[in-house]
Amino acid sequence: MTDTIDIKVTKVEQSRLTVTDFSQLPFGKVFTDHMFLCDYEDGAWKNPRIVPYGPIPMSPAISALHYGQAIFEGIKAYRQPDGKISIFRPEKNFDRFNKSAKRMAMPEVDKEIFMQGMAELINVDEKWVPSQEDYALYIRPVMYATEPYLGVKASDTYTFAILTTPTGKYYTKSLRVKVETEFTRADDGGVGFAKTAGNYARSLYPFEVAKKEGFDQLLWTDAQTHEFIEEAGTANLLFVIDGKLVTPSVRTTVLDGVTRDTIIQLAKANGIEVEERRLSVKEVIEGIENGRLTEAFAAGTAATVTHIGVINYNGKDYQLTDPETRKVSNGIAKQLNDIKYGLATDNFGWNWIV
Ligand code: COI
Repeated sequence: MTDTIDIKVTKVEQSRLTVTDFSQLPFGKVFTDHMFLCDYEDGAWKNPRIVPYGPIPMSPAISALHYGQAIFEGIKAYRQPDGKISIFRPEKNFDRFNKSAKRMAMPEVDKEIFMQGMAELINVDEKWVPSQEDYALYIRPVMYATEPYLGVKASDTYTFAILTTPTGKYYTKSLRVKVETEFTRADDGGVGFAKTAGNYARSLYPFEVAKKEGFDQLLWTDAQTHEFIEEAGTANLLFVIDGKLVTPSVRTTVLDGVTRDTIIQLAKANGIEVEERRLSVKEVIEGIENGRLTEAFAAGTAATVTHIGVINYNGKDYQLTDPETRKVSNGIAKQLNDIKYGLATDNFGWNWIV
């Protein structure tokens, strides 16, 4: 970053830190004392500020509510052994945020606003960064359209906000998942690669149905044939087949996950062959049956590395190997954790100390 911006800081009178139980931190429910806000109008980002976390007044006519112009990111900050705080690969998220913005006809956010806003917010709420094992500060940048106008067009005004929430793992056990062959998460030429609210909204009904059937998550398949695995909606998907790491290639229907990319790089550094390609449901199911598919996991900022224990396809459960025995995913998950928490040398330059 070359430029710096002036961020006005208004602090809370009374921190909620002392009344927050750090042993009870369900994902995304407990927010830190402050948030970052910045407004877009007349073609420029204005008034970057850190203010007490709380409701934001708005008109009920804002276009984000009616037409869904809203995008977000997920990033984590980790407490290091020396007490410092490191944010993991935030520039990757910044790039993806602006790709999402472009696709949703929203303005790009300036890099210094995104990066410095995040860094200063974390410094103000520094004490909220957990130090327990497997915990982190989850950072949620979000942008939404604020023009109070019911005509269908790209909004002229926006708010960019950053919220932070201390959290543990999103998933606390291995997953029982269902291959979704009726509903579709994303279509070619659509917005599946963008981190936009509507992608998550359209997944909720199928997810509710699956939850009632006893599943933890869905494996989304392609819209045309439902024959190819895409992603899990809250995370990307990776498999170990014949000792190789295989993951559905990134397309307009699949999010280009930062954790996915990190795992690919770590696998390659470990001499593991990686294949990013179309992966059929048939290959996955046959692989489980004939023992060639030995590991399956979801990977994302919130999800971290979460094993898949059972895959259900066409009403039949296929049991995978015991997660504890999975050498590739457990090995990479440990390396990744050690880098994030500053327990191993970061040869990749992924940690950004704030
Ligand atoms: C993330 O991993 O950061 C996500 O955004 C996934 C999710 C919780 C929606």
